[in-house]
Amino acid sequence: MPDFLTEAQALFDYTQSLRRDFHRHPELGFQEVRTAGIVAKELSSLGLEITTGVAETGVVAVLDGGKPGPVVLLRFDMDALPIAEETGAEYASQNEGVMHACGHDGHTAIGLTVARLLHRHRGELSGTVKLIFQPAEEGVVGQKGMGGAEQMMDEGVLEAPNVDYALSLHLWNEKPLGWLGIAAGPVMAGAEYFKIVVRGKGGHGAVPHASLDPIVAASHIVTALQSIVSRNVAPLETAVVTVGSIRGGEAFNVIPPEVAMTGTIRTFEPGVRKTVLERFEQIVHGTAEALGCSAEIELKRISPAVVNDTSLAAIVQAAAQTVFPETAIDTANYVTMGAEDMAFIMEKVPGCYFFIGSANAEKGLDYGHHHPKFDIDEAALPRAAALMAQAALEVLKG
Ligand code: NI
Repeated sequence: MPDFLTEAQALFDYTQSLRRDFHRHPELGFQEVRTAGIVAKELSSLGLEITTGVAETGVVAVLDGGKPGPVVLLRFDMDALPIAEETGAEYASQNEGVMHACGHDGHTAIGLTVARLLHRHRGELSGTVKLIFQPAEEGVVGQKGMGGAEQMMDEGVLEAPNVDYALSLHLWNEKPLGWLGIAAGPVMAGAEYFKIVVRGKGGHGAVPHASLDPIVAASHIVTALQSIVSRNVAPLETAVVTVGSIRGGEAFNVIPPEVAMTGTIRTFEPGVRKTVLERFEQIVHGTAEALGCSAEIELKRISPAVVNDTSLAAIVQAAAQTVFPETAIDTANYVTMGAEDMAFIMEKVPGCYFFIGSANAEKGLDYGHHHPKFDIDEAALPRAAALMAQAALEVLKG
């Protein structure tokens, strides 16, 4: 049995220098040209069969084990965010206004380290490992720069060879270094984007009776939407309905003709999702009409919920126990309403998505994901690589 933790720690300088290099040179979704070039070069240097340009900048590598068996896909995301970095780190972003504020620089470095570890032990693998380096996990709906997982699937990443299982991970700054979160069932929420346009009839602010005021209607809609979670979703279930932007009007004394709002809905269970979406439409249209206005809704699914397969989660938990015999694995207390496009892959094949604690409050490395001061304790990198390598080995064994 390989000792992946010792081996990953011996590769620490390699992993850290990659991570810092990616951190200095962050790239937004579908623009990860430099990052993908380094990924391809590193994977090629191992003699792996690689495909580049999958979903524009994605890279896929296939590692055949010494024995026959299933195919496990390991997914690592590569993209950064449109955030101006404020860490002041020696390896801070040199690409102004773009930052690795979610830890995907670490994920890419972890993936390349996993490739090395598994390549070294390929004779012990019962099956095939398909490593995928994905563009555009983050992004803004309606803008180019998100949807990397779906596009890689459209381009056949789950075929040739056909994928049986899928694993992915996230460095997690909500929890300290040393913590591991591996759970069965839903771990990240399904997410929708919505836009509502409320239309009325504009007019003079001093002559309201001759207008149909979309600002008043929009205000009632925002308030009424709060009743979905409090009155329609069962108390032991969860959902989020957030209106995140509201825009209407230019002048203090003019009733505008329309108001536009955008927001997000998050749910775990398909039944809850259905209820929330039905009530959402009823409330928006009904409230607008009751106030003499009309409403138009645009709804887009960002991603389904990330739901871990029960038997795969058990295998990853056992792998974690092998690598970290002293660590108590958190199997419950971290489920997040954040979204993740790995969910699309895990709708098609059984998978497990797990979390590696990466915060260190004493070193000031405990800002949340997407914060301009976000940074991780790099000691999490070899831990993550060792666990992913062990999990892949165990999943192939079945
Ligand atoms: Ni992320």
